[in-house]
Amino acid sequence: MTPRGLGKCPSCQAWDSFVEETEIVTTSPLHRVIGQHTNQPEKISEVSTTDVERLLTDMPEFDRVLGGGIVPGSVILIGGDPGIGKSTLLLQASHALSRKYGDVLYVTGEESINQTKLRSTRLGVTSENLYVLCENNLEQIEKHIDKLQPKSVVIDSIQAVYLSDFQSAPGSITQIRECAAQLLICAKNKNIPIFLVGHVTKEGTLAGPRVLEHIVDTVLYFEGERHHIYRVLRANKNRFGSTNELGIFEMQNSGLVDVKNPSQLFLSEREEEISGSVVVSSMEGTRPLLLEVQALVVQTHYGTPRNTAAGVDRNRVALLIAVLNKRVGLDIGDSDVFVNITGGLRVDEPGIDLGVLMAIISNHRNIPIDSRTVVIGEVGLGGEIRPVPHLEIRIREAAKLGFKRAIFPDYHKKGVDIDETIELIGVKNIYDSLSVLL
Ligand code: TYD
Ligand code: MG
Repeated sequence: MTPRGLGKCPSCQAWDSFVEETEIVTTSPLHRVIGQHTNQPEKISEVSTTDVERLLTDMPEFDRVLGGGIVPGSVILIGGDPGIGKSTLLLQASHALSRKYGDVLYVTGEESINQTKLRSTRLGVTSENLYVLCENNLEQIEKHIDKLQPKSVVIDSIQAVYLSDFQSAPGSITQIRECAAQLLICAKNKNIPIFLVGHVTKEGTLAGPRVLEHIVDTVLYFEGERHHIYRVLRANKNRFGSTNELGIFEMQNSGLVDVKNPSQLFLSEREEEISGSVVVSSMEGTRPLLLEVQALVVQTHYGTPRNTAAGVDRNRVALLIAVLNKRVGLDIGDSDVFVNITGGLRVDEPGIDLGVLMAIISNHRNIPIDSRTVVIGEVGLGGEIRPVPHLEIRIREAAKLGFKRAIFPDYHKKGVDIDETIELIGVKNIYDSLSVLL
């Protein structure tokens, strides 16, 4: 913060990155939210709890990411790149909620009523209880909420609404923050859920969902490659559930459809018996996902060798290549290495290490790995294979999908107790894995 505008930021050197903000003198909604401390301390053992009844949409993937349904009175932010499908998702959810629980108000601040109507026709949204309001002024929106008394509200988007008490433009940090605080008060007072749509821009210069993360109860991100049909809904913060859950959808011509068996889907286009392809298992929340890792190792012809990774951390791949070099003597320092998780999914879990590593060696030596084998394990710097959480669940999922063999950390060998028929092979280090797989 500086008292005057600067062309160039002295700390990050970016040009034109300063945004003017007016100091807030009135009591803003944000102050009211923070200033409501009149409660007395209570003994935690004596605090009575009432189980809140969550609202359910007909979209199991959506409900699961929210921690098993929508908590009334909560404010849920859905962030994501423009065009990824946020409006589509919320229109479908509103349709389901309105049919089940009563009136829902969908406020569109960006698109006209006609555009929303066109989309709803495409999606087959026909509910009698779904109301659309084209409005940007939050005071007006609140009046309509008071009048309609809806069971749920969607604000599409938070960047498009404003409070007239503040002079800055819609989409500025002040407006976004104050409007969200105002809506939080509204949600708590009326005990209804309010969904906020927030755009994330690539440059991050526009005031986006980041400033809201502290105010709202739940932050969901809707992600995916625009040119892929899969969309992933991920919880980034959730006061009412775990943040590990993933919801997977397919964007079709008639809207978003829940993907019931994601593992099957991610493996469906697999070529059998090609080198550099390995099936791994990644835990996403309580659910194991079987995914295909592909690697390509090619001699660099000119320039410096590069690592390119899609869906996995590039530094993790570099580390695995270093371990291969030191422990197995595999020198691919003069090659370009490409690693990819098919289907456009991103995985941050170390449990796929061994699979990535085996895919690299398999392609380098041009020897395919048996396509009915799933590879699980974290790789340590010493070349040892380290244990992973939830091993049994992962193996069971693989067995269910017809996999014949599971390679996993030897540490678990004694503990694994499963009924399915699948060959279980524990490995202690990379050498073991190599002799089993290649
Ligand atoms: P949209 O919900 O408008 O995205 P956002 O609100 O995040 O900006 O969805 C945008 C894209 O989704 C659009 O490019 C077209 C595509 N789409 C479909 O493929 N099928 C559909 O049924 C709908 C409504 C949209
Ligand atoms: Mg939209």
